[in-house]
Amino acid sequence: MPQPPLDRLLPELLTVWRGGTGPTDGLTTAEADQVALGVKELSRGLTGDRSLVGAAYLNRSDLLGAYLLYYWPVSFAQTLFALKQAGVHSGSRALDLGSGPAPGAFALLEAGWKSVTAADRSVDALKLAKQLAAQTNQRLETQVWDADKGLPTGGPWEVIVVGHLLNELGAGRPDRIERRAAFLASLKPLLTPQGRILVLEPASHGPNSDALAVRDALLGLGWSVSGPCFFQGACPARAAGAACHDVLKWKVPHLVAQTARRAAIDKRELPFTWLSFQPFPSPDVDPQVVRVVSDPLLNKAGRRRVVVCGARGRFSLSAPGAYRAPIWSQVGRGQALRVEEPEVREGGWGLGPATRLSPGRTSGPGSTPTAEGR
Ligand SMILES: C[S@@+](CC[C@H](N)C(=O)[O-])C[C@H]1O[C@@H](n2cnc3c(N)ncnc32)[C@H](O)[C@@H]1O
Repeated sequence: MPQPPLDRLLPELLTVWRGGTGPTDGLTTAEADQVALGVKELSRGLTGDRSLVGAAYLNRSDLLGAYLLYYWPVSFAQTLFALKQAGVHSGSRALDLGSGPAPGAFALLEAGWKSVTAADRSVDALKLAKQLAAQTNQRLETQVWDADKGLPTGGPWEVIVVGHLLNELGAGRPDRIERRAAFLASLKPLLTPQGRILVLEPASHGPNSDALAVRDALLGLGWSVSGPCFFQGACPARAAGAACHDVLKWKVPHLVAQTARRAAIDKRELPFTWLSFQPFPSPDVDPQVVRVVSDPLLNKAGRRRVVVCGARGRFSLSAPGAYRAPIWSQVGRGQALRVEEPEVREGGWGLGPATRLSPGRTSGPGSTPTAEGR
């Protein structure tokens, strides 16, 4: 069986961070204590009081080290997962924008992209990314780029990954949503005609709600959302004041567990927001295809229920406890389902004797024709 990518990459991250040799299976106790201090500070500054957001925190070597050993594996796993969820197949040219030490770029390389560029304003983070590429015998282009000074040079790219960058742009400003949507829209000349932008953001309340608002604003500028949403109107979760995000279940790597434990952070699951956009309005959406946007729940009447979102918006899909279909018994958040002949019930659809349930396409309108269900 092939070795999982993080098992292969984490010893290389350790070598690059140490700038020399040491145990390859994780941090020593002294190292873990030291890195955990940086992880705590980053966690507080990026997701707690958000005091680091917008600051040049990766210019501090202790915080860059903590990012590399703790957040890098998380972002790498999230990007790899989101590329698959979005039905983005490997291609030729891809850009990782706001790359930091480039976990997104390495996920693209892992997914089979041939020519990958990482762009960020942190020269030190790009230097680490270059060292990691050399260490792993991979080709990575880097570009020093500052969002406040214009667009990156080069392109066109088939996919631009914007990983955990948006929430740092215009943070705290009342017009941050319009600014972020305008920033994404400004990337259009850098995309191939069928190209797309894959945005990843945290799942915490503020960044998730802002990401959904940016989605709505970008749709207002004539773009379409090609995943995970099928619905092309204003986000129904946002309208209801609800969150909407994916959750990646992963096996926590030992290296991450070492510092997570010390920083008292639970990383057993990785909730995060992802959205894929294309710079043209959507063609018609298949009204039978829906995305599961909740975990399964059992109601008092013994019906198994999930919340789904599709061309008709957000509603409930449920079935009696005795309903048997393999795809339903494994139903989970993030899955795309095609539901034919549902029973129309108050508040949603039911699965009945005449209903046919099959995998839906992974992404919404504008997806590549080869995109298939999981
Ligand atoms: C939270 S890190 C995300 C890094 C990586 N993309 C990931 O997913 O883990 C945010 C990155 O955005 C970069 N950044 C923030 N504001 C920027 C700006 N105005 N121009 C360029 N890069 C910026 C930071 O240097 C940092 O590398």
